[in-house]
Amino acid sequence: MRRLAHILLMLGLAVTLCAAAGDGEWLRKVPAKDRTRPNPYATDPDAPAAGAKIFAEHCAACHGGEAEGKTEGKHIRPNLHSDRLKQATPGELFWLLTNGSQKNGMPSWSRLPDPQRWQLITFLKSLP
Ligand code: HEC
Repeated sequence: MRRLAHILLMLGLAVTLCAAAGDGEWLRKVPAKDRTRPNPYATDPDAPAAGAKIFAEHCAACHGGEAEGKTEGKHIRPNLHSDRLKQATPGELFWLLTNGSQKNGMPSWSRLPDPQRWQLITFLKSLP
């Protein structure tokens, strides 16, 4: 039994160490008060197009022109049409765009004004 416990412990450790870009680990870091922030641009008719333009300028180089994701060697830039993105709240996405997930290679976009980050989120939520 001791031995089994030991093996399980090592397995757990290996899984933790392998937490990497693209596994959604960042979601666990979002504080509760940020998760529920509503997107003031959710129903703005101009937001999807405005967001698409900002995406082409700042995000497509890593995530692909259609947000289809890109893997270059060890660099995994996730596809943004995923179930995870559909299930993420606007507040969670806003938190990620503001803080980034820098150890995994996602920059912080806090230099973009708040309205631009919300427009990006409206665009991401409009993806098929
Ligand atoms: C330098 C490359 C790079 C750029 C530029 C970049 N990203 Fe990322 N992005 C990443 C990486 C790497 C991850 C994975 C982070 C992680 O899993 O911790 C990521 C994760 C994400 C996620 C979460 C995806 C998921 O499934 O968990 C979203 C949403 C996202 N990026 C949106 C954007 C937007 C919007 C922009 C432009 C403002 C952008 N990214 C620019 C590299 C980049």
